Amino acid sequence: MIEPFIKELANTSAEGTLRNLRLVSGTTGRTATVDGKQIVLFASNNYLGLANHPRIIEAVIKSVEKYGWGSGASRLVSGTMPPHMEFEERVADFLNKPQALMFSSGYTANVGVITSLMGRKDNIFADRLCHASIIDGARFSGSRLKRFRHNDPDDLLRLIKKTGGKTKLLIVTDGVFSMDGDMAPLKELAEIAERFGAIFMVDDAHGFGLFGPEGRGTPSLAGVSDRVDIHVATLGKALGGSGGFVAGSKSLIDGLINFSRPFIYSTAPPPSTASAGVAALDIVSGEQGARRRKALHTNVGKIMAYLNNLGYDTGKSRSQIIPVYIDGAKSLDNGAGVLLEMGVFAPFIKPPTVPRGTERFRICVMADHNESDLAKLESAYRRLKEI
Ligand SMILES: Cc1ncc(COP(=O)(O)O)c(C=O)c1O
Repeated sequence: MIEPFIKELANTSAEGTLRNLRLVSGTTGRTATVDGKQIVLFASNNYLGLANHPRIIEAVIKSVEKYGWGSGASRLVSGTMPPHMEFEERVADFLNKPQALMFSSGYTANVGVITSLMGRKDNIFADRLCHASIIDGARFSGSRLKRFRHNDPDDLLRLIKKTGGKTKLLIVTDGVFSMDGDMAPLKELAEIAERFGAIFMVDDAHGFGLFGPEGRGTPSLAGVSDRVDIHVATLGKALGGSGGFVAGSKSLIDGLINFSRPFIYSTAPPPSTASAGVAALDIVSGEQGARRRKALHTNVGKIMAYLNNLGYDTGKSRSQIIPVYIDGAKSLDNGAGVLLEMGVFAPFIKPPTVPRGTERFRICVMADHNESDLAKLESAYRRLKEI
């Protein structure tokens, strides 16, 4: 019998980068039970607390009662149901784009759009810290992938100027970077895209619902929404559920329906997921969304101030994702134990998720965190300084 992975797992374990699943019980709120211990969770992308919002739960229940739990087929066969269409119309309207298309996840949305649009002779320029799904999409497409220095439009310019021939060009970036919490210089990137006739794509997974007017995201915050050709985001973070979508022109969406393999050859997301997305969008774009965003940004400000006062380096974060850089994996291992003892869970992120030498704790802030949660976090990081 051939046992898979044995050697690789042994190597990974020796390097101290072995990954393990962790059981988190309870609803996806600000507190949870991790490994049997009650803790305050600073690790969830449920930033606005919508994962267990009663209005969304009600929408899901009604949708399941009306449509059943499964879509029964891929979207092109018989899986397109009213909630999918409703979500797509609603999100396109929200982003002021002609059309949108729902995918099973943000990951498949990124892979689906890049692989269908870009071919072997084309050139993709991606920020060096782009999400893995963008990099995978670029690799699967067979295009030439050039990664510019993080948030460095000059480096992009240098690379794009070196690219000869008449090929299709794609410039792609995250809106908010998932491990660093900083934001892309979207205006500068849009200018370069226009100057060189490149397609401009933004994956706003961690910005959608949170930044800009009504939470339309980082393109809207930067005033470049109409210059973004492909707007990708997920229902799995601020919206509190799961699923992804792409918004853009009619020809982009027609192209995805015809050529995007992750869209074509996969069962459509459950209709109730789309119904939940519609209910979540209603909340995000309404008065309650504004209130939740304000609470989130206030919490972020307070936590940044605590950490910086304690002497921690939080990099260039401008968002609810706050990296706390700590030297060496060993300190991280000890530190994680200390944080858990103090009733706080913020995971440590090691290579290969982040480059070696940039290991960090990653704090994800939620609108629902209260004063006592913040005080707990501050005490835990104060204690961490002492070990
Ligand atoms: C920047 C970014 N893009 C895409 C994704 C993938 O989204 P999803 O979790 O919906 O697959 C993630 C989430 O992990 C992300 O952080």
